[in-house]
Amino acid sequence: MYLPNPHRYDSMVYRTVPGSGVKLPIISLGFWHNFGNENTYEKVKEMVLWAFDHGITHFDLANNYGLPGGSAEAHLGKILSEELKDYRDELFISTKAGFRMWNGPYGDGGSRKYLLSSLDQSLKRLNIPYVDLFYSHRFDDQTPLEETILALVDAVRMGKALYVGLSNYPTQELKKAVAILKSHGIHPLLFQPHFSALDTWARDEGAFDVCAEEKFGVIPYSIFNQGLLTGKYLREIPKDSRMARPDNPFLTEKSLNVSLLNRLTKLNEYCESIHRSMTEVALHYVLGQRPVSSALVGVSRLEQLQELTKAALQEPLNMAQLDQIDSILKEKS
Ligand SMILES: NC(=O)c1ccc[n+]([C@@H]2O[C@H](COP(=O)([O-])OP(=O)(O)OC[C@H]3O[C@@H](n4cnc5c(N)ncnc54)[C@H](OP(=O)(O)O)[C@@H]3O)[C@@H](O)[C@H]2O)c1
Repeated sequence: MYLPNPHRYDSMVYRTVPGSGVKLPIISLGFWHNFGNENTYEKVKEMVLWAFDHGITHFDLANNYGLPGGSAEAHLGKILSEELKDYRDELFISTKAGFRMWNGPYGDGGSRKYLLSSLDQSLKRLNIPYVDLFYSHRFDDQTPLEETILALVDAVRMGKALYVGLSNYPTQELKKAVAILKSHGIHPLLFQPHFSALDTWARDEGAFDVCAEEKFGVIPYSIFNQGLLTGKYLREIPKDSRMARPDNPFLTEKSLNVSLLNRLTKLNEYCESIHRSMTEVALHYVLGQRPVSSALVGVSRLEQLQELTKAALQEPLNMAQLDQIDSILKEKS
């Protein structure tokens, strides 16, 4: 029988999401890769329970996570109805809909039809009556924005989600979506963009400013650019890495061009000069940005999660170090 660590809240740091009373751990666990049927249930369970035992209370999912899509939610659903049955209220669980999930015209996009039926399917797989946070996974220019946003509002009104979020929205559409939400009396909780030391668009193109002005939080994803910012590809492509996997079209050898490798090599030299690992620097780079509430991390094995949890509790980077990282990674070569 699983008994959680009685000291699980002793060392994790929590940040209050602006405009809300929700506190999130500074690292949250993402279920996109390695938490579905591409991994064994036992290994998934080991990582999930270790996270919970160390104060990582936020699990981030989407309808299509895992191989096949949906299997990450199904794995978590089993854990939630077994080991974590008595601890649902200690967890903050998010899911999303927006990218292709099933065949035909209603399995993709931003329609009310897709979002609400997908949420019902997610709840069934997760074995829970509501999620804490439901996201529109992407802006869909084929659907009136009002329709997508009203589906989020109604998910809350129907008691199927406590909060709503927006992911991958360009700045102008983010602004419009927030205005529509507010006109229906709903305040967004989080914006989830791709953001890392290598990809700073959300800060540079004003999306972070929208979040700060409208008082809601940011939870960036792919903060290691799927592993590029851990230093593992500096010399070779490790056989057990995401890039080496034939079933992963999202990170391929093509991403490793000479300019990128040069910049990563320089970043690595800088990390060595301040006696910190590249992984730790990449993590603290995003945690050092206002208004980031939590950094979403992906892992392929337990040891990585253990390393990241330790790294998260290390000293933040100072402004001069953040600026130095920007100038190294923006340098043209
Ligand atoms: N909203 C969206 O559209 C969206 C899109 C993508 C992701 N997300 C969310 O963000 C989460 C994280 O995304 P992600 O997995 O793409 O990004 P990531 O966190 O940038 O990369 C995760 C990968 O980095 C490597 N890694 C992590 N910790 C490490 C360590 N301590 N040492 C060495 N390598 C380490 C592992 O690579 P190896 O596999 O090579 O070991 C791991 O699979 C997802 O699970 C999901 O919840 C959201």
